[in-house]
Amino acid sequence: MNVVEANGARIPAIGLGTLGLKDAACVDAVKAALGLGYRHIDTAERYGNEAQVGEGLHQGLAAAGLKRDDVFVTTKVYHHKLVAADFERSLDESLKKLRLPSIDLLLIHWPTPKVPLGETIGVLCKAKREGKTKHIGVANFTATLLDEAVKLATEPMATNQIEVHPFLDQTKVIAACRKHGLSVTAYCPLARGKVPGNEVLERIGKAHGKSAAQVSLQYLLQQGMSVIPRTAKPDHLAANLAISDFKLSDAEMNEIGTLRRPDGRVVNPPHAPQWDS
Ligand SMILES: NC(=O)c1ccc[n+]([C@@H]2O[C@H](COP(=O)([O-])OP(=O)(O)OC[C@H]3O[C@@H](n4cnc5c(N)ncnc54)[C@H](OP(=O)(O)O)[C@@H]3O)[C@@H](O)[C@H]2O)c1
Repeated sequence: MNVVEANGARIPAIGLGTLGLKDAACVDAVKAALGLGYRHIDTAERYGNEAQVGEGLHQGLAAAGLKRDDVFVTTKVYHHKLVAADFERSLDESLKKLRLPSIDLLLIHWPTPKVPLGETIGVLCKAKREGKTKHIGVANFTATLLDEAVKLATEPMATNQIEVHPFLDQTKVIAACRKHGLSVTAYCPLARGKVPGNEVLERIGKAHGKSAAQVSLQYLLQQGMSVIPRTAKPDHLAANLAISDFKLSDAEMNEIGTLRRPDGRVVNPPHAPQWDS
């Protein structure tokens, strides 16, 4: 598995997104993913599935004969828990539900204007110093907020997890991530189901014997991002991993690049626009 390196972190390039996965389906998807070769799982306190992700992780490690350190686990603290004491409580509860002494990456899930950024960045850095997470980062931070966060942080940050897919222009925030040495983790890399059926992506995929979904993931990987597509279906789990055997040409990358639009979001941010990425 390729890794994306950033500020000391080695993030497996393809991870499993788990938003919306619940109950036994979540346990089974995480376990199956590890069996197929996934080494990166993305969850969040907000998804309400950390206990099931943890169960799938522990079952999957045992079934595949893997060690805990073989798998990169990310969780996040939601924006209504960013006051220091709430943040620490949220992280401790996440670790308990996952049944892990520490995770690999802890993210601020969304920024909020209601809590000073310095307070949250301070407690995020403290979590790393205390060994509760190996790496830290943010999600949904704008270029401006990222500049501010990097100035406030006393520990290096590994990633900004943001919505990225062929239909959304994220040029500005991606440039800010690069400037600060953060990686980009692309969420909604399949635009929540809008990628399959797109004429350009289907045509390019056909030329390589691949699906539009595989083209979208490869398009993002070739830009040096990691991707966290979500599925519980065994054929889609396998397909999303089976993309290391083809490369998109410069002409294909450029053509896919023409699909992006400033208003191409599929996720509605919980805040006013100046806090959106
Ligand atoms: N930080 C944040 O604020 C944030 C926000 C949103 C998401 N995320 C993370 O990013 C992950 C991914 O985003 P997402 O779940 O919203 O959207 P997504 O991964 O872009 O899209 C998921 C959809 O794609 C379909 N799909 C998956 N693999 C496919 C394939 N090979 N061929 C065709 N269709 C396929 C799935 O359908 P099937 O179920 O039929 O396979 C599902 O409907 C989340 O699960 C979560 O972990 C983070």
